[in-house]
Amino acid sequence: AEGLHCPNYPWPHKGILSSYNHASIRRGHQVYQQVCASCHSMSLLSFRDLVGVAYTEEEVKAMAAEIEVEDGPNDEGEMFMRPGKISDKFPQPYKNEQAARYANAGAYPPDLSLITKARHNGQNYVFSLLTGYRDPPAGVEIREGLYYNPYFPGGAIAMPKMLSDGAVEYEDGTPATESQMAKDVVTFLTWAAEPEMEERKLMGFKWILVLSLALIAAGYQRRLRWSVLK
Ligand code: HEM
Repeated sequence: AEGLHCPNYPWPHKGILSSYNHASIRRGHQVYQQVCASCHSMSLLSFRDLVGVAYTEEEVKAMAAEIEVEDGPNDEGEMFMRPGKISDKFPQPYKNEQAARYANAGAYPPDLSLITKARHNGQNYVFSLLTGYRDPPAGVEIREGLYYNPYFPGGAIAMPKMLSDGAVEYEDGTPATESQMAKDVVTFLTWAAEPEMEERKLMGFKWILVLSLALIAAGYQRRLRWSVLK
């Protein structure tokens, strides 16, 4: 069964010349890190990707240094643990898919690097999914270990409701309501899936500007040169 059709939200970065709200990307990263990262990987992201987007290089270095990364082999041929570096990928929550499924009643929490592109109407879908948990309607039985969510195809999802008011404490003081956190984490996930969006829009704008000028110049030339023949 299809999931419930989700509304179209007015994402502020949707306009043809709009950029991302970078404070929202930063808050969204905080939500990902503190809430989602215990189950969902984002294997395409490195710490470095956050520099200049949501954090300063110093902040990202400090953040990376908080994790332990397996490295090696060293000169003795041994693997060893070291603090994370800015060039490291985001850490994986589980060793492998089997461990992930074991921890989640058989279900697999998908990698979120490209999730807003991988799902139809991704941004609106993920927002609706995160905020769409409710009691099942009368007569609907939900199997043990699953949760009712009308936006999830089939209506029963293995992910519990994760966002409730106050689930994180934003360092910029923004009240962490359920919908605020959902909006921020979706903004972060959208940026992750499409980091080049701002560049693309800017280039499009430049091309249109240059082509318009060329068109005006051509039209002017045409009138000037051909005027004697009319
Ligand atoms: C599935 C997002 C936190 C466990 C999903 C899906 C998304 C998502 C977009 C895919 C739904 C689909 O397939 O269409 C998030 C976000 C989180 C979060 C943004 C943080 C706010 C968590 C946490 C856990 C978890 C903490 C583990 C306790 C799962 C599982 C699935 C899933 C097991 C697969 C569900 C199924 O196939 O039935 N999540 N998630 N998620 N998530 Fe999360």
